Amino acid sequence: MGATLSTWDNPLKFKRIEVRPLNGTIGAEIRGVDLRQPLDDETWAEVQQAFADYLVVTFPHQPITHEQHLAFSHRFGELMQMPQLHSVEGHEQIHVIKRDADDTGRVVGENWHADSTYMERPPLAVIMRAVTVPDFGGDTGFLNMIRAYETLSPTMRKVLDGLSAVHSATRIYGSAYLAQNTRFSGVKTEVDVAAGDRETVHPLVCTHPSSGRRFLYVNKVYVQRIDGMTDEESKPLLQFLHDHCSKFELTCRVRWAPDQVLVWDNRAAMHKAIPDYVGRARYMTRTTIAGPRPE
Ligand code: SIN
Repeated sequence: MGATLSTWDNPLKFKRIEVRPLNGTIGAEIRGVDLRQPLDDETWAEVQQAFADYLVVTFPHQPITHEQHLAFSHRFGELMQMPQLHSVEGHEQIHVIKRDADDTGRVVGENWHADSTYMERPPLAVIMRAVTVPDFGGDTGFLNMIRAYETLSPTMRKVLDGLSAVHSATRIYGSAYLAQNTRFSGVKTEVDVAAGDRETVHPLVCTHPSSGRRFLYVNKVYVQRIDGMTDEESKPLLQFLHDHCSKFELTCRVRWAPDQVLVWDNRAAMHKAIPDYVGRARYMTRTTIAGPRPE
């Protein structure tokens, strides 16, 4: 494996918060903060540092209101709308991930992805709160795309550094979605096919604005092909990257409990909703932080 993250072996450097890494790759639990209250500047600086270091930070036992969810989210930046997701009534900027016990549709986000990478400015982060979780199942997986990049050979990294990828939402609400004849649970059913098929190009390797570290920016849900290559030429390289990125040792798995709040970095981490809770309800609320163009 490549170099370890800066604080991985030293979570004790944090003075205002308690940081417990989830494993040696991605994610940390943060204790010692109360998200019902505004965080003082020192505590906020440490939360930001932990977020930059671990990419996924989770806060257990945080019975926050919608207003407190919004207030905490605003510390990370401007909020944005997610066109496919329903909102909580009276709170346009809080979106819902909901699956009823009798729902038979496909679970939203069940493949490894970062949210909405088809946008010119995809989200920077997502702040999710667990409201109702199944007794077991319904975990979320996270994957460290900095590690994914760093564990490639120097020669492969050099090749990828010069490439870009074409992204679109065609499989989510464009013509490829319509052709699949499938349905996702709990999302808006009207689809704007033209918007779904619109293509955006992003570099295949980007630099994280907080840490300066390079990360792979590719996912199976939105990436259609390598820019300037045919589908046939792109396919083997993309397949290699998808296989490489989904190695177990690049991931962590978060078990949810009610009132748990989690922030994921939507640039250098991918996530996956694990669809193993058929017949049981799951209800989460989330805010989405606007991001800059990945570069
Ligand atoms: C998502 O992909 O936004 C959903 C993640 C989850 O429900 O765990």
